[in-house]
Amino acid sequence: MSPKALAALATVACMACGNDWRTDMWFQPGGGLHSIARPEPEGSIPMNARPHLDDRDEAESLKEAFPTDTASVARGKALFTDRCISCHGSEGHGGGPVGRYFPPAPDLGYPAIQSHPDGYIYATIVLGGRAMPVMREGLSQTDLWDLVHLVRTIKPLPPKVLP
Ligand code: HEC
Repeated sequence: MSPKALAALATVACMACGNDWRTDMWFQPGGGLHSIARPEPEGSIPMNARPHLDDRDEAESLKEAFPTDTASVARGKALFTDRCISCHGSEGHGGGPVGRYFPPAPDLGYPAIQSHPDGYIYATIVLGGRAMPVMREGLSQTDLWDLVHLVRTIKPLPPKVLP
């Protein structure tokens, strides 16, 4: 039999035997009523709950989970060193090495940034910014607020005096 005739025969054979063998995972034994997630019992509290946010503006009124202190700022600094300095620079004034390949990250001491409410800064880490990626991966609520407290300590650089 010629290869053409073989191919035609194979096609006809496939059409004849229906679709079931090709639908991979379309049809499964599950999927009945029992597989629909049940609503959580009344009064239950999700573990590791965090506020649900769709955008940063929605977070403006979010209140900090605990007040700032030196221990929180120190923890925030350690996290900042791990996760933020590649873009924002070691002191948060910008100029991190990634800025060479990515939109440069701003000086976090800028009044325009510091004038945002705490919730907005929190949400920038959780949701990312216009260019900044989402940075919440692996961070607890305490970590996130420690970072906000650290960002709050970054003061604007004094203006450069030209010679
Ligand atoms: C990959 C680079 C990158 C990393 C990592 C990064 N940022 Fe940013 N960040 C940016 C850029 C770019 C902007 C400015 C544009 C924007 O809003 O996305 C920014 C803006 C911000 C702003 C100002 C937002 C505003 O609209 O005023 C804050 C606050 C901030 N970053 C905090 C952080 C913190 C805290 C971390 C670490 C958890 C971090 N960033 C990690 C790139 C980065």
